[in-house]
Amino acid sequence: MKKIVDPLLKWYVQNKRLLPWRKDKNPYHVWVSEIMLQQTRIEAVIDYYYHFMDKLPTITSLANCNHDKLLKLWEGLGYYNRARNLQKAAQIIVEKYKGKFPQSYEQILALPGIGEYTASAIASICFSLKEATVDGNVLRVYMRLNNCYDDISNPKVKKKVREKLISIMPDDSGNFNQSLMELGETICIPNGIPKCDICPIQNYCKAFSKKTYLELPVKSIKKEKAEEFYTILLFIYQNKVAICRRNESGLLHNLWQFSCFSGHMKLSQVKEYLNTNHIEYQKIKKSIHYTHIFTHKKWNMDSYIIFLTNTNNIRNVEWVTLEELEKIYALPGAFQPFKKAMIEEMINDDEA
Ligand code: ADE
Ligand code: SF4
Repeated sequence: MKKIVDPLLKWYVQNKRLLPWRKDKNPYHVWVSEIMLQQTRIEAVIDYYYHFMDKLPTITSLANCNHDKLLKLWEGLGYYNRARNLQKAAQIIVEKYKGKFPQSYEQILALPGIGEYTASAIASICFSLKEATVDGNVLRVYMRLNNCYDDISNPKVKKKVREKLISIMPDDSGNFNQSLMELGETICIPNGIPKCDICPIQNYCKAFSKKTYLELPVKSIKKEKAEEFYTILLFIYQNKVAICRRNESGLLHNLWQFSCFSGHMKLSQVKEYLNTNHIEYQKIKKSIHYTHIFTHKKWNMDSYIIFLTNTNNIRNVEWVTLEELEKIYALPGAFQPFKKAMIEEMINDDEA
């Protein structure tokens, strides 16, 4: 294993992608980028990163940012707890460490939203500490290199990989960690055939010599995602649409949504609901069907667009223009397709 260190470092220095958070070793920059990169592709993160740093250039500005504004900045990235924890951690850094990012692995790991992976990334990249970043990319490279069939969803396996990598960690730990991740992202890729012909560690790779790379890594099959069914009612009155805040706890808490009901409702059932609640409308029509996939569940959603005659008997909503919805309110990705459908419908309605 030790033999891979020098070729990887050399390869990384020559081939690393020039990403905005790699311009310096500012822990704030590295931290925010690593949090954004969890569950989100690099190409998708770059624009968000620039926008975020433009609005919140320092740890103190993040700590003091209005909470709704922060969620709006995060709109589209999903996994909103990542943004909430970023702010909590920033507040702790301001209060406990006078605004200066802590420099020991244990102190970094103790911050909200920072696990072993992120703490190791910051500690190695910014402070050259010998910690190992074991993400899915690193696990794949490791298992292929060693032709190892251990199950990577087993935490014990991950721990073993981490210890092994720490045992060969060079002083340039930040670059070594990033070289393994970058190799996994660009050369030793997950779907399809890895690019072994241009791999800097092909000579040391057991999966290459045995041609087993497509079998590795082994990962036990995940559970089916639980499926939930909803009906979304898109109320339009003049040039405004109705939105409401989600509950204070649970999935997507405190974010905004359109009126949402459990189960799929037929057109006749929606009409019955409107009549029973004395909601007067000019026009109602079935709109799009959309399934949104979260980490542990999926939402299977039907929707109806309803042009109202007045706003009587519609409770607990805010009436906003589409411009306000775009600029001010954080609307999760699960509801974005409905906003789009509504915009199209409002344009058609204007032209009719
Ligand atoms: N993926 C997530 N963080 C990374 C980093 N710092 N370098 C390379 N790939 C990454
Ligand atoms: Fe991955 Fe191929 Fe390199 Fe082995 S030789 S580490 S399988 S890209």
